[in-house]
Amino acid sequence: MKHKGWFISIEGPDGSGKSTVGAYIEKQLTEEGYSVLFTREPGGIEIAEEIRSIILDPKNTAMDQKTEALLYAASRRQHLIQKILPAIEEGKLVLCDRFVDSSLAYQGAGRGIGIDAVLSINQFAIEGHFPDLTIYLDLSAEAGLKRLKDRVFLDRLDREALDFHQRVTAGYQEVLARFSDRIVSVDASQAPEKVAADALDYIHQRILT
Ligand code: TMP
Repeated sequence: MKHKGWFISIEGPDGSGKSTVGAYIEKQLTEEGYSVLFTREPGGIEIAEEIRSIILDPKNTAMDQKTEALLYAASRRQHLIQKILPAIEEGKLVLCDRFVDSSLAYQGAGRGIGIDAVLSINQFAIEGHFPDLTIYLDLSAEAGLKRLKDRVFLDRLDREALDFHQRVTAGYQEVLARFSDRIVSVDASQAPEKVAADALDYIHQRILT
């Protein structure tokens, strides 16, 4: 039986505008009468926040890449169990800024662990709870990093060099091809209103029919 609510994730490289576009989508779907939970990993869940702050602390340069992948998966599981699944069970539409595909692209491709290896630890963590639909905000690594320039604080991953971010965007393309029935791609170089409108078209066509 299909679950009661919906689960949508938004993905993309750093600087692709996920939070701005997500806020537009949240507003529009709320106006349409859906009960929307807009969350982001780690989603305000204390245990997950604590894990995440260890991962992103710029001083943790000694962190092993597989440790990083395992910690993201651990944080994701806690967010899923404590917040996402209960909301879906209540019939809400959960809109999540980043989910499993971020790990496939950043740790699998960016860090070079391999998409299959990272997928397997995430399968253990999420037990089949993939999003119903994933919106990929398609933007080059160069354009994304240019947008980050004005940010006051850059976390440990934002600070990685361009070649890391290029491996991430290439990784996302591989993930898109592999999960083509779940992931749709939107041109994120457009104005945020237009990016959100394109995303909403997909949401209506694919899951809110
Ligand atoms: P954010 O900027 O979207 O909040 O994400 C923080 C950083 O963490 C960003 O550079 C992407 C990275 N990240 C991963 O490397 N793997 C993951 O699984 C997630 C969720 C984020």
